[in-house]
Amino acid sequence: MGLIPASFIDELMSRTDIVEVINARVPLKKAGREYKACCPFHGEKTPSFTVSPTKQFYHCFGCGAHGTALGFLMDFEHLSFPEAVEELASLAGLEVPREESQGSERRTDLYGLLDAVAAFYRDELKRHPPAIDYLKARGISGPTAATFGLGWAPEAWDAVLKRFGRDDETVQRLATAGLLVERDGGGHYDRFRGRVMFPIRDARGRVIAFGGRVLGKDEPKYLNSPETPLFHKGRELYGLYEARQALRQIDRLLVVEGYMDVVGLREAGIAWAVATLGTATTPDHLERLFRVTEEVVFCFDGDRAGRQAAWRALENALPTLREGRQVRFLFLPEGEDPDSLVRAEGAEAFAARLDHARPLSEYLHDELAARVDMDSMDGRARLAELAKPLVARVPEGVFRALLVRRIARAVGMDEAGYGRFVEAAAGEAPRAPA
Ligand code: UTP
Ligand code: MN
Repeated sequence: MGLIPASFIDELMSRTDIVEVINARVPLKKAGREYKACCPFHGEKTPSFTVSPTKQFYHCFGCGAHGTALGFLMDFEHLSFPEAVEELASLAGLEVPREESQGSERRTDLYGLLDAVAAFYRDELKRHPPAIDYLKARGISGPTAATFGLGWAPEAWDAVLKRFGRDDETVQRLATAGLLVERDGGGHYDRFRGRVMFPIRDARGRVIAFGGRVLGKDEPKYLNSPETPLFHKGRELYGLYEARQALRQIDRLLVVEGYMDVVGLREAGIAWAVATLGTATTPDHLERLFRVTEEVVFCFDGDRAGRQAAWRALENALPTLREGRQVRFLFLPEGEDPDSLVRAEGAEAFAARLDHARPLSEYLHDELAARVDMDSMDGRARLAELAKPLVARVPEGVFRALLVRRIARAVGMDEAGYGRFVEAAAGEAPRAPA
């Protein structure tokens, strides 16, 4: 990545209005010469987050967070410094100059390349009736396919290579973008062949990776882009961009396991589903989810693997549970997934299941209680022990207090006593990396 000249940062800051930047993300209210809001960096009910148009600074009197428009973007959107600069520059209509601009040009090129390849796959889908029939048979309409930009990777070793790999440098870029695989003896071939293609988009709608599904029974069923400079599996959520495009306000997000679950739910009229990409739900995922909604419902298969995945999601969710945020768990009948269920029973019946999704506190309690003998004193003591490190991971506040009460009652301990027990653990525990 090339260096950004300091003079450009100065110019950029002089053309940027922090009020506008923050207000687009956190609605501000005017209060005297300043603006106020509830702080986006910690949970609160009365606003102590202030933005000063004269100083071009924000400051939170509650948690001490403060900085410039650039700092705000980095913290709020989890952007790197150059990414935040790019974002502000595009708002100001400025081009970011680079002292040795190769790196950023390359990156921009990768986006352009992925976008062009996605368009190519879309075109190929129109030309490949078996793939169209496959999607139709799965109940996916043309408009839904278009919403997600679904495509088809031709059954060939070199469709992308031939069409886009004009010179060595471009071939290298295609490989960096994850579209080509290097041959042992030198040379490259197409990674995706004979698959229905699902472009994965970032928060701004740029294509950063692909998933591809075979039409039949070949293995692997899905093939995904590898990690690339643009694509980090543990951070991206399939369908989040599309959900934000569809909905003005997102009251809740449903986290499912598969591409087809997201697409199938959308077809049924449920636009607020996103999928993790074949990985466990990470704290990064949760931060992203909570940036756009207050309620997250995890949807898992009722089988053993599903329960395991749910428990990991719970563990990762605990440190993110600030006030106002809610996490619930929905377990589906074994052998069903959201796509098959919504097709079988319709959107309304499926949405009704969500009303019975279990709150995190209940799931945590029930799961631990099932591991011990609640009829014996030893068993209950064991539950208190098992719950302690988990409850301790929840940030101090109302939600933690409620969990403490829930567990204390279950084991017949007094609440304050159990609270101290948990606090001691919270104090000792090393801070979980975000
Ligand atoms: P599933 O096996 O549950 O498939 O994988 P699915 O989503 O129900 O797929 P359909 O309905 O048969 O088309 C769930 C997710 O796990 C990842 C993909 O992200 C998939 O959507 N996965 C699965 C892979 O990455 N590779 C695989 O071979 C299988
Ligand atoms: Mn499925």
